[in-house]
Amino acid sequence: MASSDDAKLRPLPNTAALSGVLEAFAFFRDPAFAQKRFKRHGNVFETSLLGQPMVFIQGGQAISDLLAQPNAVEGWWPESVRQLLGSHSLANRNGASHRARRRVIGQLFSASALQRYSAGIISMVKDLADELQAAKTALPLAERMRRFAFSVIATTVLGLEGTDRDELFVDFEIWTRALFSIPIALPGSSFAKALKARERLLKRLQKVLLKASNGNGGLDLLAGGLDEAGIPLTDEDVVEQLLLLLFAGYETTASSLSCLMRELLLNPQVETWLREEIDGLDWPPAPEQATTAYDQVNAPKLDAVVCEVMRLTPAVGGFFRRTKCALVIDGVEVPKNRVVQVALAASNRHGAGDLEAFRPQRHLDEGCSATLLPFGGGERVCLGKPLAELEIRLMVVGLFHQLRLHLIPDQDLTLQMLPSPTPRDGLLTKVL
Ligand code: HEM
Repeated sequence: MASSDDAKLRPLPNTAALSGVLEAFAFFRDPAFAQKRFKRHGNVFETSLLGQPMVFIQGGQAISDLLAQPNAVEGWWPESVRQLLGSHSLANRNGASHRARRRVIGQLFSASALQRYSAGIISMVKDLADELQAAKTALPLAERMRRFAFSVIATTVLGLEGTDRDELFVDFEIWTRALFSIPIALPGSSFAKALKARERLLKRLQKVLLKASNGNGGLDLLAGGLDEAGIPLTDEDVVEQLLLLLFAGYETTASSLSCLMRELLLNPQVETWLREEIDGLDWPPAPEQATTAYDQVNAPKLDAVVCEVMRLTPAVGGFFRRTKCALVIDGVEVPKNRVVQVALAASNRHGAGDLEAFRPQRHLDEGCSATLLPFGGGERVCLGKPLAELEIRLMVVGLFHQLRLHLIPDQDLTLQMLPSPTPRDGLLTKVL
């Protein structure tokens, strides 16, 4: 790092919060929490959230300074997430043991694995299009997107069907509710219930793993996975990675899909612009082209819409690292052992031009002035990015190729921001 007597280094600005109770209250209530403080303190500042000191950063320079120093940082999650994910989870590991598990689990998202999943995903999109077409009353599209995103992971990737999947879903919802709670297992508390749900989930996932060789889903791809010492991963280890996939891949993808549908239905001129492209694409795609038919090259307008939705309403508002030594971020000296949050939601609106507006064309014309990393970056970049992108593209083309949807009037279309943005009244929609 640059030496601390470098005249250009600035000390770390601090909000002067002591207990962090009011800051935490503001953080959970105010979507502009970070933006307001960046305005006051610059692109790097420190505050405290319920006693946890946290450095927030935004902007291209700060983010690239952080990601350029992978050996100076490690992964970090709040204590509740850490406990509920478990000590084997790759999210809670660093260095060689993290990399070894990424290599194993990453096989579930290789090009050939995605090719294998695509027929199942297309069939789910068709089922939803048929359901919307046949519906006599309005349907909550956001709820359908949740169901779809969960089924893609549970059925297409893990190979679960019927009651196995439904029971897993019930426990998973109990587990998710406590992810960002106070991690004290008082009897009856949501954290205590979540710990019990976690035990049931792991048992169920263990059974799923035993059945993996039956060819459903993609779990056979994990056979023979080795840890950092070249020793086969234990089942206990693998099931915690599967739990992580449910956590990381479900809410995020569902949120991106709901926000994308919402933006298109609220902006008919963008929908018309996108339809010009979609009308020229084949639906369903030829099986051997399913993973590339709607990519950036073949569907640039769709790509721009996806980028713009992830910019304005990122499913993950921020990601974390902890500093292992002092380092310089955008000219500010951040001490050792600090939790750093890359504030994606604020950072995506930080730059020149009309960044508050929904305008996908910007990604095709002048490019976007903000640094966009909706899937994070560096050694911990999202493992499921290729799957999430595939799901989203197949869903948008599949629905918009076949249907004209419209929004039911007088519903609350504002977004509930936590855990990931979702329209408050569920995005009530009907086919025209
Ligand atoms: C639109 C959907 C998604 C978004 C926006 C998203 C975003 C992210 C972000 C921001 C991170 C943190 C990266 C970092 O720390 O640098 C992450 C990590 C991760 N994501 Fe995703 N994600 C999505 C979907 C998925 C899916 C579908 C899966 C798998 C089924 C998945 C699996 C993971 C895993 C395993 C990690 C942890 C990686 C690590 O710690 O090494 N994600 N994701």
